[in-house]
Amino acid sequence: MTSHAPTARSSPDGSPPDVALVVDHLTKRFGERVAYDDVSFTVGYGEVFGFLGPNGAGKTTMVRTLGTLLAPTSGSATVAGIPLSPETGSDIRARISIMPESPGLYLRLTVAENLECFASLYGIRDVRDRVAKALEAVNLSDRADDLCRSLSKGLRQRVALARALLNDPAVLFLDEPTSGLDPVATRDVYDLITALRDRGVTIFLTTHRLEEAERLCHRVAILNTKLLLIGRPDELRERLFTRAVEVRTRVPLSDPRAVFGRLEQVEGWEQSASSTYELHVTDPDVAAPDIARALVAAEADVLSLVESRHSLEDVYLELVDGDVEARRR
Ligand SMILES: Nc1ncnc2c1ncn2[C@@H]1O[C@H](COP(=O)(O)OP(=O)(O)OP(=O)(O)O)[C@@H](O)[C@H]1O
Ligand SMILES: [Mg+2]
Repeated sequence: MTSHAPTARSSPDGSPPDVALVVDHLTKRFGERVAYDDVSFTVGYGEVFGFLGPNGAGKTTMVRTLGTLLAPTSGSATVAGIPLSPETGSDIRARISIMPESPGLYLRLTVAENLECFASLYGIRDVRDRVAKALEAVNLSDRADDLCRSLSKGLRQRVALARALLNDPAVLFLDEPTSGLDPVATRDVYDLITALRDRGVTIFLTTHRLEEAERLCHRVAILNTKLLLIGRPDELRERLFTRAVEVRTRVPLSDPRAVFGRLEQVEGWEQSASSTYELHVTDPDVAAPDIARALVAAEADVLSLVESRHSLEDVYLELVDGDVEARRR
């Protein structure tokens, strides 16, 4: 991914940076059950922020809290520049949008009628123009007169995304936008989110699809009731795993210790398959040329020599499994 996390804009007068979301020690309990506990983070304007976590981690509850549909038990938050409180709910709602897990459309109305209906509820003035723009943004202009009942799940999801765009939100909350979609519809939604990201829309996206977070988000937070980790996907991988170079040879090396053991850059190594070796290094860019030279000197038939990359899935499983283990103790 080539994206860079947009930084929070600083005000010229040195006042606190202009951030889209500030969540400060927020906790939500339902009776004895804790949905999320003591969670703090900030999201800058223009940032796509992924909120990752397993089922029941508290993701939807956080969206509902920041979307003013639920009051937190303790802690504080600022949403689109407005402090969250019972009095500010309608001001916040005017500046944000939520696309919930299920689209919730009127199936007996057409696509355009649905959007017009919601646009009127939002008090939008130039309804027709806004509906046309929202449909255009999700590539649905040609389906405006179709009944929602006749649309596939993926298309309904797109209508829900169009609805969320009607009020030109300062912060867009997407709660598992691709849940239940097939790979083609999923890719379409990714393209739409990428287009919104490129336009600088601030997006808070919950998901348990790791490749989704990796592909779309500038930063991700991993939640399992408590916030476990937060950062850019590449940062998280680096923080949790040592870096490594993977070497594959056509046949197993006769004496791998003689080849790898002398290299200063190689801190350790293991044979992960009969002719595949994982070498732990500090910096693959520095180590790889030395490794290549040592292999050539040993007359090895090298098939590949690559940095072995951990996926966000590795990070996630390491954290969430570790967390489950810790709780069992
Ligand atoms: N209205 C409610 N009343 C009681 N408990 C609730 C309520 N809403 C959520 N919870 C509980 O809070 C916890 C977090 O639920 P939440 O829906 O936020 O999880 P999630 O991360 O969105 O999960 P999923 O990935 O399954 O959508 C769960 O234990 C859930 O049962
Ligand atoms: Mg949920």
